[in-house]
Amino acid sequence: MMKNGEKWLDVDGKPIEAHGGCRLNYGGKIYWYGEDRTGDNYVSCYEKTAKGWKFLNNVLTVNSPKQPTRVKSDLSLITEVASGEKVHAIIERPKVLYCEKTGKFVMWMHYENGVDRKCARCAVATCDTPYGDFVYHGSFNPYGNDSRDCTLFKDGEKVYFFSSSRSNLDMHVYLLADDYLNVNKFIGALFSNELREAPAIIKKNGKYLIVTSYCTGWKPNQSTFSVSDSIDGVFSVNQNLGDENTYFSQSAFLYENEQGDIVYFGDRWGGNDFNKTGVFDYAKSGYCAYKIEFDGKTATLIRSEDAFNE
Ligand code: GAL
Repeated sequence: MMKNGEKWLDVDGKPIEAHGGCRLNYGGKIYWYGEDRTGDNYVSCYEKTAKGWKFLNNVLTVNSPKQPTRVKSDLSLITEVASGEKVHAIIERPKVLYCEKTGKFVMWMHYENGVDRKCARCAVATCDTPYGDFVYHGSFNPYGNDSRDCTLFKDGEKVYFFSSSRSNLDMHVYLLADDYLNVNKFIGALFSNELREAPAIIKKNGKYLIVTSYCTGWKPNQSTFSVSDSIDGVFSVNQNLGDENTYFSQSAFLYENEQGDIVYFGDRWGGNDFNKTGVFDYAKSGYCAYKIEFDGKTATLIRSEDAFNE
């Protein structure tokens, strides 16, 4: 049983590096992708086995192959600064879906150049397998908008990209093109001036539940939830989820387990140490899995020491 907030170990006893990530069910297997900031890595992929999470590959790294698409984008993953030093880009909150039309696994993520936080772009990569070496297709600002914390959500045939925009003031919703390589329509903006980020969405019994956090960097804060009958419909007024620090976590994604429970998967950035000492070390970041009870109107986060369903 994994403990909430700790940096969990994989089946080989190595720390799992999959922060701000996502979960993909494909071909009867369950994959977990997330940020890996060790060495030259950007995104790693793990597979769920009977014994625990098994590391498969560093699917996106500084050295990933690059290929432009029809989308005008910036292919760089390294920035050379005035001193001549080469700085790694920052890749955050990678989300992966399978595109039936193209047969590709498509990753969307948040890109910053590693020098400052002004780019605020989304970025796209693809691969023929869930855990192969992804090809990087570059970063861009969707319709010119800034785009930070993000998620993907597949609703039947349609796929939506959610990202915090207007300096995190609003949460933007875009419909993706049918090859998932670009945004195709601006659906609208949610939660105007509410400063919500870390979006995570699930559909259950016809209701769409979106969980977001407030913006306090790595420090945990009060998450909220909102409910709608459709993605382009009206979302309810945000209501608090969990306590003022969301049981020391920030949302990464939501999923439904085999029993039909909704699981909230979050990051405890900086691990338990950050919350005790105030000294932040990204490398110590841990994971949290809490159950969410959702009746179609109200969502309740269930606090636990043990990670739920892990
Ligand atoms: C958080 C965000 C994280 C990361 C961090 C950097 O608010 O959710 O993904 O960007 O800020 O300070």
